[in-house]
Amino acid sequence: MIAPIELTDRVAIVTGASSGIGLAVARRLVAGGATVAMVARGAERLRRVCQELGERAQPFVRDIGDVPAAIALPGDVARQLGRLDILVNNAGVHHRGDMLRHAPGDLAQMYMVNLVGPVVLTRAAVDVMSAGGVIVNVGSLAGKLGVPGSAVYSSTKAGLRIWALGAAEDLARRGIRIATVNPGPVDTGFLDDDFDNVSLLTFSQPMSTADQVAARVLAAIHSDQTGIELDVPYLSGKLATVNYLVPGLGRVMRPLLEKLGAKAKARYAARRGLGRS
Ligand SMILES: NC(=O)c1ccc[n+]([C@@H]2O[C@H](COP(=O)([O-])OP(=O)(O)OC[C@H]3O[C@@H](n4cnc5c(N)ncnc54)[C@H](OP(=O)(O)O)[C@@H]3O)[C@@H](O)[C@H]2O)c1
Repeated sequence: MIAPIELTDRVAIVTGASSGIGLAVARRLVAGGATVAMVARGAERLRRVCQELGERAQPFVRDIGDVPAAIALPGDVARQLGRLDILVNNAGVHHRGDMLRHAPGDLAQMYMVNLVGPVVLTRAAVDVMSAGGVIVNVGSLAGKLGVPGSAVYSSTKAGLRIWALGAAEDLARRGIRIATVNPGPVDTGFLDDDFDNVSLLTFSQPMSTADQVAARVLAAIHSDQTGIELDVPYLSGKLATVNYLVPGLGRVMRPLLEKLGAKAKARYAARRGLGRS
């Protein structure tokens, strides 16, 4: 067991920090007294949210799918902000629908941003972190089973979970913990920006807010355990596991789930002014 971390005067990297879950995590870290290296590609939005959060939120404009940039980031942060204690691997990309609709390069990008980036960033972060440091990945419940219409995305998130479970022992030798938080659907731009292509199965599950997911990321940061996984919501995580273990049951349940999902998707579209109709 490793002692849980205090936030005051600690330094965190949050990737994908300019919106959604990453921004909600950064808000909680800054409120707790940490300084946060806020990472995203879009400079304008990133600078705007850093200004809102105050001087303990510092922008680092980077593409996490760019391996040399990801490797250089922890050293840059430690030099500019004095140390590194926490890494939240949150940035992610999802090209939705039948994988044959997408160019091979777009499929590769999902692996680079969702899996390769977090692994190399973590490897580089460990070189500048002291014992007591913590890594939290934002995975997905889609990484607990092969989701139709999200085959490649599911496999990137499955890879992230399985890597973290295996890496926990390696990192523990340096006194560093790792955890993965697996959300179901969350009401962020991640769904809204490609709303028509979000599957009915996705909408069949209860929707979380970015702040509900952020609360679980903070719970993982404060835990004294390593190698843990937190599913959000908990029951959707159990359903995903049953579907993985008994794929026949998943096929039988699919028409019912899609019917529920269609209703939920229509309600969500009306609430947020989205969709074709
Ligand atoms: N929303 C959901 O339903 C849901 C469900 C399960 C899991 N997740 C996971 O949760 C994580 C966060 O998603 P979200 O819902 O908060 O999405 P979001 O609101 O769309 O935010 C995504 C953030 O990531 C940044 N980003 C994207 N690609 C990047 C890259 N290559 N390098 C650096 N930053 C990058 C974006 O800024 P720029 O575009 O400016 O770079 C933005 O700040 C993702 O890993 C996603 O897979 C989301």
